[in-house]
Amino acid sequence: MKNVPPDSAQSVAPSFIALIEAKRDGGALTSDAITWFVRDFTAGRIPDYQAAAMLMAIFFRGMSAGETRALTLAMRDSGEVLKFPDDQRPVVDKHSTGGVGDKVSLPLAPLLACLGFRVPMISGRGLGITGGTLDKLESIPGFTTQLDPSRIIEQVQSLGLAMAGQTETMVPADKKLYALRDVTGTVPSIPLITASILSKKLAEGLDALIMDVKFGAAAFMQTKEQARELAQVIVTLARDCGVNTRALITDMNTPLGRAAGNWLEVRESIDCLEGRGPADLRELVIDCAAQLLHQTGRADSLVVAREQAAHCLDSGQPRRKWDELIVAQGGDLEAFQRKLTAGPTAPMARELKADRTGYIARCDAKIIGEVIRDLGGGRLTKETVIQPDVGIDELAKPGEFRKAGEVLCRIHASTAASAEAASLRLKEAFAIADEPSSAQPIIHEVI
Ligand code: URA
Repeated sequence: MKNVPPDSAQSVAPSFIALIEAKRDGGALTSDAITWFVRDFTAGRIPDYQAAAMLMAIFFRGMSAGETRALTLAMRDSGEVLKFPDDQRPVVDKHSTGGVGDKVSLPLAPLLACLGFRVPMISGRGLGITGGTLDKLESIPGFTTQLDPSRIIEQVQSLGLAMAGQTETMVPADKKLYALRDVTGTVPSIPLITASILSKKLAEGLDALIMDVKFGAAAFMQTKEQARELAQVIVTLARDCGVNTRALITDMNTPLGRAAGNWLEVRESIDCLEGRGPADLRELVIDCAAQLLHQTGRADSLVVAREQAAHCLDSGQPRRKWDELIVAQGGDLEAFQRKLTAGPTAPMARELKADRTGYIARCDAKIIGEVIRDLGGGRLTKETVIQPDVGIDELAKPGEFRKAGEVLCRIHASTAASAEAASLRLKEAFAIADEPSSAQPIIHEVI
């Protein structure tokens, strides 16, 4: 392996080419070289096309544990790192590697705050066909995800939680790299995902972290083995950096819950906070909370921890906390309530019906994610403006029975033409069989 020497910031163009070439040819980058790349790209001294070439070289050549650590720390240190005052309440968070319909963070954050944790959740936007917490939150009228570090600390101390995005002052390197990876096919890389996630989580000054590492058709890791490898890398590095971390390995062949698309997922999250909503979403929310209760010694066993989390969720407190969060982050609570009780908020709603009777054998999260992106719920370029109200709900899930003519899902679209295109494509997402298939668990392993 070639070792690439660090270079001075004065001769950016020629030396950065050397770094790209070194990584392209399988060389290892020194910590200084990685720090320099992150610093200069964040400062706008390295153009997008060169950074994209470096990302693609990393995608193909990978990174050693040392390089991944250097990239993560350089990205963390591209902005401020939160420092919370001493307090009884542990500082915790959860992060997912990304999926379709994966709205767990929305009900989980207020639940954790009500369980006595402090939650400074820094999230990202949609990436590839997977949804992003920031895009979901921004479908709430007036809600801002741009909080500066002092406001995050203040809000977490007083309310127990804040949900924000990377900014010019917090992990700005991830803000820029994330957007570039999204449109250059460089997302599914273990070192890049690890650095992206852990730079944000380490900047939060956490005591404990629960990771949801997804595998399957709509996940960045297609197989359980790849997800396990990613989980091991994340857990090892996070623990090495002093954060008590566990990872759940979860299934992303089928969307989580019955709704996917930014606003539709907010609405389903409220169902979960109000004791309704899909069982798989509730199970994952409760399990993430239970792991954190157990990890931080607040429950002696996972069984007790799950009961504690379920009891708190059903108490209605997290639902009230959610409203307080909306108000704290500039949201218009009345407009939010009106939107919540209104029917479909996109211009068009159209049902897709089963063409035969039988059991749902497949509800393909990848196709559904692509359809939502094409409806305008995700991005094809950095400039794409998200349409918050489009998406799919009322999804029929594997194992369920439908008669011919019953609804398989409902499409929310901006135009009749896009609803029609979605409907044609969605027919491929479902398979119906005569016999029910065996039920698949959501959580496969804990690392
Ligand atoms: N979530 C992130 O924050 N970054 C990734 O790269 C993938 C999922």
